[in-house]
Amino acid sequence: MFAGKKVLVGISGGIAAYKVAEVVSRLRKLNVEVHVAMTKSATEFITPLTLRSLSANPVYVDLFDEPKLWNVEHIALAEYVDAVVVAPATANIMAKMSTGLADDFLSTVLLATRAPIFLAPAMNHAMYHHPATQENLTRLRERGIKIIGPAVGFQACGTEGEGRMSEAAEIVERLDQFFSGSDCLKGKRALVTAGGTQEPLDPVRFLGNRSSGRMGYAIAQVLQESGAETILVSAPTDLPTPPGVTRVPVQTALEMYEAVLANFPKMDVVVKAAAVADYRPAALAEQKLKKDGTNRTIELVPNPDILAELGQQKTSQVLIGFAAETENLLANAQEKMLRKNVNLLVANDVTKPGAGFGSITNIVSFLFPDGRRIDFPQMSKLEVARNLVSEIANLLGRNKGVK
Ligand code: PMT
Repeated sequence: MFAGKKVLVGISGGIAAYKVAEVVSRLRKLNVEVHVAMTKSATEFITPLTLRSLSANPVYVDLFDEPKLWNVEHIALAEYVDAVVVAPATANIMAKMSTGLADDFLSTVLLATRAPIFLAPAMNHAMYHHPATQENLTRLRERGIKIIGPAVGFQACGTEGEGRMSEAAEIVERLDQFFSGSDCLKGKRALVTAGGTQEPLDPVRFLGNRSSGRMGYAIAQVLQESGAETILVSAPTDLPTPPGVTRVPVQTALEMYEAVLANFPKMDVVVKAAAVADYRPAALAEQKLKKDGTNRTIELVPNPDILAELGQQKTSQVLIGFAAETENLLANAQEKMLRKNVNLLVANDVTKPGAGFGSITNIVSFLFPDGRRIDFPQMSKLEVARNLVSEIANLLGRNKGVK
C-alpha cells in the first residue's frame, strides 16, 4: 500500500527541478505524506514556497535553519520517512553520495537514512556518460540505491541524448510499485542470458559479436526488482551484476548451453537475450597461431541452438526469445517464434540507429504466437525490460505489471 507512506522528496539543482512540483502533487493525490529537502542550488530553479504549498509541509534547505519540527531534524527526518526520492539527481549530488560527503541538509539526510533511496538522474548527456558519473552510479546501484531513468531525448542545453529526467508519472509509478506491486513476480524463478559468446580459436583469439550485455542485464535487473529470484547466465561483459542477481559467468555457447539446460527444469521464466554464436571453430589451437603470409581457412562446426532446445523441453515455463535481424524483421522473427516454440519473441532490427548491439536504447516489437504484436518506439533498454517484464507477469497470470 502506497497511501499513508511518508516520502522525502530531495531536490538538487538542475533545470528539471521544475518538474518536481508535479511529482509532489501526484504523491499527494495518492495520499502520500510528502516532505521536501532542497539544496541551495535547487532553490534557484524552483522556490521553497511552491514546494511548501504543494506538500503542505515545511521545506528544508539549510542545516542551520531554525528547527521546524524536530531538534536534530536531519536525523529525525532520515529515520521518519519510508522512502527518499531525489529528483532531479545531479552529477554533483550523486558524487557526494558515492563518497559519503554530507555538507548540507539533503546530503546529510541521504547519509543518515536507512530508508530505500530512489534517484532520478538529470544532466547533460556528456556529463551523464562521463566515466566519473558512471562509476558513481555503479557504486550507488551496488549499494542498493534504485535508479529511475534517465530518459533519452531533447535536453535543456539544446542537445539530444540520455540524461533527461524521467517524467513525474514514471517516478511516482516506480515508488508506487515499490510499495504495492514490486513483488509481482515474488516466488518465481527467472533465468536470463546476456552478452555475446566467445568461441576461442587459440589462447588469445576468439570469434565473437558486438553484444554488450546491456539488454539482458536490464531484464535481469527488472525481474529481480519485481521479486523473481534471478540467475543471469552471462557471456563476458564489463557490466556490474545487478544487485541481488546471481551471475553465472560463461564464455562459449557450449558453456552457456550447459548452464542454461542445468537450471531450466527449476525455472518459471527464461529470457534468451544473449547473442549466441551459431558456429565455433572445429579445432582450438594450443599455441597462438603464427602468421605465415598464406591464406587460412577456419573450419566451423555448428553450436547447439539453446533456445530451440528449451522450446522442445518446455513444460510450464514462460520462454522468451529475441530475434536480431538485419532484413525482413517481422517475417524472420515470426518464423523464429514458431520454430523455437517461445511464448513471446522480442524482435529488433539491429541495423537501425539506436537499436540492437551495443547501444543504450533499443527499438523492439513483441510478437505473440496468437498473432498479437506490440511495436514500441525507441526507448532505453531498461524501459524495454520493464515492458517485457510486465508482459511476463501477464503470461504468468500476475496482473500487476511493473512498467
Ligand atoms: O547486448 P546488447 O548490446 O544490449 O544487444 C542486445 C541484443 C541485440 C544482443 C539483443 O537485443 C538481441 O537481439 N539478442 C539476440 C541476439 C541473437 O542471437 O539473435 P538470433 O536471431 O541470432 O537468435 C534468436 C534467438 O535464439 C535468441 O534468443 C538467441 O539467444 C537464441 N539462440 C541463438 C543461437 C543459438 N545457438 N542459441 C540460441 O539460444
